[in-house]
Amino acid sequence: MKIIMLGAPGAGKGTQAEKICEKYKLIHISTGDIFRENIKNNTELGKLAKGYMDAGELVPDEVVIDLVVDRITKKDCEDGFVLDGFPRTIPQAESFDEALAKSDMKIDYAINVEVADEVIINRISGRRACPKCSAIYHTEFNPPKVEGVCDNDGAEIIQRNDDKPETVLNRLKVYHEQTQPLIDYYENKDCLRTVDGSKSTSEVFDKIVNILG
Ligand code: AP5
Repeated sequence: MKIIMLGAPGAGKGTQAEKICEKYKLIHISTGDIFRENIKNNTELGKLAKGYMDAGELVPDEVVIDLVVDRITKKDCEDGFVLDGFPRTIPQAESFDEALAKSDMKIDYAINVEVADEVIINRISGRRACPKCSAIYHTEFNPPKVEGVCDNDGAEIIQRNDDKPETVLNRLKVYHEQTQPLIDYYENKDCLRTVDGSKSTSEVFDKIVNILG
């Protein structure tokens, strides 16, 4: 199964992608995580991405497209993957479709996790993430067992640099301008499924499982 997660920043794409991958044994590909890992390791890609991410802007299309196409053609993706954070612009989606067609692949579902902007602000302000394994927490809705510490590996969980209020507002603006048009794009391809992302994590997941079967 090949799945794309759509939705605003903080809608819960990453949270649901993790659960889908665990249940259906798919590979989770988060472009945001790939960039954060590169920033942590101070690679050339990381240096390039950091300025855009800290400002809440998108990394240029050509950088992201090559990265994702390279990743999904690796052997471990043969049985399927969940793309979380890609595509994010119409040019990314079009280039991706061309690349998929060349490899005789197609997207089965684009899952749109729909959440109002007011809910997003609350979710993002409480989000914490593990810098080691990328596990996602929320101070109120999904706290770790021990405050401030990742359940998986004991690392100190942190607030993302781009989760500061002023950056979040720009990320939302960029989402509405550049990413939201993808909802129509995938609707026209008959693979769009929308779920109400304002419900609890498990309720949202149940809806997704109903869709995926
Ligand atoms: P990325 O890391 O992809 O960030 P994003 O899309 O802005 O999405 P988020 O990770 O913020 O949110 P999410 O929807 O995954 O929500 P989560 O599950 O964490 O991208 C970061 C940056 O990288 C971009 O701004 C850009 O610069 C660059 N980039 C990445 N991909 C790119 C691309 N393709 N092109 C160009 N640039 C790119 O949930 C949020 C919080 O809410 C968590 O605390 C969670 O615990 C909580 N939560 C989740 N679900 C629920 C629920 N149902 N109820 C209560 N709380 C919940």
